[in-house]
Amino acid sequence: MHTNIPDKEILLEVRHLSKFFPVKGGLLGKQTGAVRAVDDVSFSIQRGQTLGLVGESGCGKSTLGKTLLRLIEPSAGQIIFDGIDITQLDNKGMRNMRQKMQLIFQDPYASLNPRMTVDSILSEPLKIHGLYTTLEEKRKRLYELLDYVQLPKDALHKYPHEFSGGQRQRICIARALAVKPEFIVCDESVSALDVSIQAQVINLLMDLQEELGLTYLFIAHDLKVVEFISHEVAVMYLGKIVEKALFDDIYQNPQHPYTQALLSAIPIPDPTYKKERIILKGDVPNPINPPSGCHFHPRCWRATSICEEVYPEPTDLNDHHWFRCYHPLKND
Ligand SMILES: Nc1ncnc2c1ncn2[C@@H]1O[C@H](COP(=O)(O)OP(=O)(O)OP(=O)(O)O)[C@@H](O)[C@H]1O
Ligand SMILES: [Mg+2]
Repeated sequence: MHTNIPDKEILLEVRHLSKFFPVKGGLLGKQTGAVRAVDDVSFSIQRGQTLGLVGESGCGKSTLGKTLLRLIEPSAGQIIFDGIDITQLDNKGMRNMRQKMQLIFQDPYASLNPRMTVDSILSEPLKIHGLYTTLEEKRKRLYELLDYVQLPKDALHKYPHEFSGGQRQRICIARALAVKPEFIVCDESVSALDVSIQAQVINLLMDLQEELGLTYLFIAHDLKVVEFISHEVAVMYLGKIVEKALFDDIYQNPQHPYTQALLSAIPIPDPTYKKERIILKGDVPNPINPPSGCHFHPRCWRATSICEEVYPEPTDLNDHHWFRCYHPLKND
């Protein structure tokens, strides 16, 4: 599915988005620094498509996902959703807009109230947004939501603990769908599940995308998880997107050494294809005090003096593929 995508309408455009969390210290609790969780990020997602967002723990994926929905307020930048700059909306405007933008988390245990039945869990958003007038209408909608996620009608009377992990994730998806969203951020939403169950949930999300025309930002640690669902992939490192391309381009023609390292960790079924596993030295640096220049340079085997000095600007490889690196693709 993730071959060429024709240029379609852009649903979400992010321009120079940043989120810095203040770091306080000392007796007076004065601000002593900032965590640059999201640092000058720009990208767009076309309607009906999925952008996979990958990177190591702490690189800012969840912060970016929540900032897009303004569940976290951005420090700078613009978020244009369906032609509207949502960073300019007041609370009321944002409440209305949030109906179109939903978030599904990794841990369905934590995000489903154990004392509520599925009926109450799914009815709550319908009620908040005034999406039904009669009880008959509500019941019809609840059945429709269960049908979307392939759960039986009698699920309505049960509590979250009566379901398996995969089924609980389906309940979370149904709850997100209740308000008829256009855009869903799926934050590690299959990472906690067994691989076979992961595949089922990913298939379900893909079917729903086709049926309902949904647009996704799909967040995961590694490229393997985003492989089937993503039309495009963005690779994030320490608050910045370092490469973005169509999935197949990322896979076949990765330019940034960090992308190559992430790819080298994925097993390839073809035994004739010899691939060196790239083991990165060191850990992800501290985002409070990121390395100078390109943040990746202390771990990079291609780094030269320029990399320590100035963060590379984006370079276009083609219409859908750009990267931020002075020393792209070299088979070394
Ligand atoms: N509310 C907060 N206050 C201060 N720092 C925060 C806050 N939330 C996140 N951070 C910091 O921002 C950085 C990015 O965190 P974030 O949770 O977005 O990363 P992530 O890529 O989602 O990681 P993971 O893969 O582990 O979920 C981290 O250094 C984190 O400690
Ligand atoms: Mg996260």
